Amino acid sequence: MRKKLIAGNWKMFKKLGESQALAREIAAAAGSHGKVELLVCPTYTSLASVAETLKGSPVKVGAQDLHWEEQGAFTGKISWDMIKDAGADYVIIGHSEQRTYFHETDETVNKKTRTALKGKLVPIICVGETLAQRDANQTLDIVSNQTRKAFEGIPKADAAVCVIAYEPVWAIGTGRNATPEQAQEVHAMIRKLVSGLYDSGVADGMRILYGGSMKPENAKSLLSLADIDGGLIGGASLKADSFLAIAAAS
Ligand code: 13P
Repeated sequence: MRKKLIAGNWKMFKKLGESQALAREIAAAAGSHGKVELLVCPTYTSLASVAETLKGSPVKVGAQDLHWEEQGAFTGKISWDMIKDAGADYVIIGHSEQRTYFHETDETVNKKTRTALKGKLVPIICVGETLAQRDANQTLDIVSNQTRKAFEGIPKADAAVCVIAYEPVWAIGTGRNATPEQAQEVHAMIRKLVSGLYDSGVADGMRILYGGSMKPENAKSLLSLADIDGGLIGGASLKADSFLAIAAAS
């Protein structure tokens, strides 16, 4: 049985005090959500203080990206070691905003995934098609390509700890979520693909999250599907009420 993971991606929102306050509010209610795992991914500048705030609570902390190198002259970047040092256990990799605005490619997603795994961070690997690709009936091809490339050269034991987030680009921040049928179709395809790449044990254990305009109103219909193991939530994760309502819906 896969434990559901409800993850908040705070993107470039919330200053230090605001991040701590939100973390405190979520932690205060976390005890009543024992059946799901809660995770928050604040900005780098809030990472350490949110981790400190959440110490002793079941709520986990993740970063929103990392560099694949250990250290060096890479202005603006952050390493797995620094993320661990700040108290985080997860890292989002290959978010579509990184792919669209910051030159993230399938190759850099693969490098980052290997580095995260080496550093014992749990990668949340994001995949998803654009609207034009969906309209051209390319969704399954695009997503399977992205997934296959992310796992290239990654051994089974490492793959087994990864989380995948299916985030259709057209659903992110638009208020237009994938229908449960659309999401389930892609999630089932990803699980089958992982089974082919590794085996059914890895596939059955892998958590595949949905992301893209998930809200308290649509969470239940998405999270009750066989292959949807949680959510990666943007907008609705910025308020404790809506984030926790999604957790309750699962
Ligand atoms: P929204 O929930 O705001 O659509 O964002 C989804 C997302 O990008 C999470 O990573």
